[in-house]
Amino acid sequence: MLNMTELYYFSPTGGTQKVGELFCAGISETVQAIDLGALSAKNIPAENPEGEVVVFAAPVFGGRIPAVAAEKIKGLDGSGKKAVTLAVYGTRAYEDALLELNHLAEKAGFQVVASAAVIAQHSMIPEIGTGRPDAQDREELLGFAGKVLEQLAKKTDGPVKVPGNDPYKAEMDVPTAVLSLPACNGCGNCVPICPTGAIRMEGGMAAASPEHCILCMACAASCPEHARILPAPVKESLEQKLEPFKNVRKDNEFFL
Ligand SMILES: Cc1cc2nc3c(=O)[nH]c(=O)nc-3n(C[C@H](O)[C@H](O)[C@H](O)COP(=O)(O)O)c2cc1C
Repeated sequence: MLNMTELYYFSPTGGTQKVGELFCAGISETVQAIDLGALSAKNIPAENPEGEVVVFAAPVFGGRIPAVAAEKIKGLDGSGKKAVTLAVYGTRAYEDALLELNHLAEKAGFQVVASAAVIAQHSMIPEIGTGRPDAQDREELLGFAGKVLEQLAKKTDGPVKVPGNDPYKAEMDVPTAVLSLPACNGCGNCVPICPTGAIRMEGGMAAASPEHCILCMACAASCPEHARILPAPVKESLEQKLEPFKNVRKDNEFFL
């Protein structure tokens, strides 16, 4: 086991963080988790990570890494330190996201030695991959962690190869925003939670600007009144598009 690992994660609804923590528990005695989505200065990543190995965990949005997380990774200085990358997705597909995450880490000066594409519950359509990562995913992540430790002990590890295309697919077009139901009591809980700073209080209710909202669902996951929802047409078209993935258990993929 390693003594210390830093886990840099972006996890609007918690699935990515859970995957990252399950993996890190298998490689390191202590884990310092740093939320790339947090706006407050105290959580902005240290420029020079101190852990022996750094783990990056990011969710897949439209087959890409969300720009808000990508921008924070670009600000790090890896100085040749070894890294493991985890792209976490909602059963449909991860497309170019894992390759993009590896490129981001490499450009920030890290040497990516192992990667995985791991399933979590779909944050927009929770009937897909419900409850994942679950006990089986945990076992698989711990098994992968053991192999990563073996790999790290060898002197000969080179950069890991993962699927994906470069140039990447175009970023998701998000012309809309998460909405408040009348049940919104204006508590303001969601304002600092929003990773893009898209939410303001208007007329005693939370209102997200469509310009900045990335539909990450962080506000919905944290709302005590369950009053944040996707606009009905967005929800309906997603339900339709993702129908074939309901009741599908997709396998995690590990790359060493
Ligand atoms: C805006 C948005 C786009 C998404 N795009 C994809 C995708 O392209 N492929 C996929 O399989 N899952 C997709 N998902 C599902 C997430 O990748 C998945 O639920 C992930 O676990 C969310 O991470 P979190 O729980 O840390 O928020 C998307 C979710 C959101 C909110």
